[in-house]
Order: sequence, then C-alpha cells, then structure tokens
Amino acid sequence: MYKIIKKETLYQNIHALWIEVPEIARAVQPGQFIILMTKEKGERIPLTVADYDREKGYIDIVFQVAGKTTKELSFFNEGDYLYSVIGPLGKKSDIDFFGTVVLVGGGTGIACIHPIARNLKQAGNKVITIIGARTKELIIMEKELKEVSDELIVTTDDGSYGKKGFVTNILKEKLDHDHTIKKIWAIGPPIMMKVTASVTKSYPVDTIVSLNAIMVDGTGMCGSCRVSIGGETKMVCTDGPEFDAQLVDWDEFMNRMNRYRKAEERSLQYYENHIKRQGQGEV
Ligand code: NAD
Ligand code: FES
Repeated sequence: MYKIIKKETLYQNIHALWIEVPEIARAVQPGQFIILMTKEKGERIPLTVADYDREKGYIDIVFQVAGKTTKELSFFNEGDYLYSVIGPLGKKSDIDFFGTVVLVGGGTGIACIHPIARNLKQAGNKVITIIGARTKELIIMEKELKEVSDELIVTTDDGSYGKKGFVTNILKEKLDHDHTIKKIWAIGPPIMMKVTASVTKSYPVDTIVSLNAIMVDGTGMCGSCRVSIGGETKMVCTDGPEFDAQLVDWDEFMNRMNRYRKAEERSLQYYENHIKRQGQGEV
C-alpha cells in the first residue's frame, strides 16, 4: 500500500498526487513512468512521473479524469493509500548536452516534460519550453517550467492566456528563426505529437515523442502497447515510451488508442450511475 502525501486539484478534473514510494523516487529518471492500481481488482494505469524528491521518497503524478479508473483515482485524498505502484518503467530520456533544445507540452502532457526540461537544463542546454492548452485554467506547471527554462512560451487555443493558437504554430516560428535548435521533445495528445512530427520533418532536428499507449502488464509480455516504429513492432512499455517522431506509424497508433473508447465510455457511465463512494477510495 502506498500513501498519498499530498493532493492538489490543478483545475476541475486535473489532479496532482504526491505518493510516498521511496524505492521508485530513488531510481526514477526523466521520461519514465509508473503503473498504479487503486485497488486489488482494479485496472492498471500508466502515468508518467512529473516530479520526484529522492530524499523524501516522493513521486508526483498528474492525471486528468478520462475514464472509470481516473475518476476513481480523483476521489483519493491526502492520507489515503493506493493498492499498488510499480516502477520506474520504460527507458529514460536521452539527457545530454545538445545546445539548444525545445520542449513542447500539450494539455496534461505539460507535466511530463517537466523532469526532462530540468535535467536538460542541468546538462547545460539552452531550454526553450512551449506549453499549450485549450484555455487559461488548463495551463499547468507554468511556474515550475519557468524555473528550468531559458524561455517559456504559453499558448491557448482560445487566446485567453499567452499566445493564441496551437503549440505547433509557435514551434514552427522558432524553427524558422533559431537555427541553433538541435532536438525537440513533444508530449501531449497524439494529434499534437503527430502534427509536431510533420512540422519538424523538414528541419535538421531530432524530434522525440512520448507515446501514451494503452498498457496492461507494462513488462513487454501482453502486447497491448505495441506500436510500429520505422516498420518494426516495438513495445511502448519496454522499448519506449520515447521514440523518434518521424518513425512512428501515427495512423496505426491513433487507431489503437481508440480501440476501447466505447467500452471505456460505458464503464464510466456505469460507474457514475451505479457505484457509490464508500469510505476510502472506491469499491
Ligand atoms: P488538448 O486536446 O486540449 O490539446 C492540448 C494542446 O495540444 C492544445 O492546446 C494544442 O496546443 C495542442 N494541440 C491539440 N490539437 C492539436 C492539433 N490538431 N495540432 C497541433 N496542436 C494541437 O489536450 P487535452 O484534452 O488536455 O488532453 C491531454 C492529452 O494528452 C490526452 O489525450 C492525454 O492522453 C495526453 N497525454 C499524453 C501523454 C503522453 O505521454 N504522450 C501524457 C499525458 C497526457
Ligand atoms: Fe503489455 Fe506493454 S503493456 S507489452
């Protein structure tokens, strides 16, 4: 059982949880993820680690309510216990000195770029961070990212804060004007990562994306998270989650992401209609 040390609601259905899990906090590296279960017979959900405190033994995860289990998770509070947290899983980000790097975060993907940005900054890179969300209230971790970036640009789709438009518009402007950019990380909704890949294709830069595939075991055994990378089948959980954006078969990835959508909607609806909260967590 793993204790929730702190809970913060960032906006309506977006929450951050600090979880006491010393062995993961000591070992986790930027880009890696955990799989948690709220209860013994619950679903396993993968979440990228947004921050960690090695000394205190805490990790921070940020999630948006998207289905039954994330809804259930949103009811957990400070002092509650999660049934299981395993990790760190996946390969770490390639942190090195590249020169100028750009971190692009969309929606809750913004949280995932934070440890990568911080470590790239510590490695001596000039870090340009571009974050975007639909509207002002959905912009998360702005302060934390400002601290680890040489430049931070905020966009909103509706223009309610920062620059109006998609993160990819700003990325294109940057690439046109700054020829020192060597490497880009983009994390967010699949369509944002796909469009990023298409924008950066004609520039001499490496583009890395983190794929949020549907996972079951997280150990490379079940095949649920398989993706095609440069014509080869890879497992996101063990070969990723980060891949070269230009090699991803985006249509296949996006189709596979949607394969349980109807079942997920039914499950959430059933949960909301029939199950009442009973004490700690959901039963
Ligand atoms: P959203 O649809 O509001 O999009 C967030 C931002 O992405 C937008 O503000 C925009 O700047 C950019 N974007 C969206 N559509 C675009 C397009 N067509 N072209 C260019 N840019 C576009 O995102 P949301 O509703 O906050 O959802 C968050 C998504 O991020 C979820 O799908 C979640 O699964 C995903 N996510 C992915 C990861 C990961 O590891 N890849 C991690 C966390 C969350
Ligand atoms: Fe089962 Fe990756 S989650 S192989």
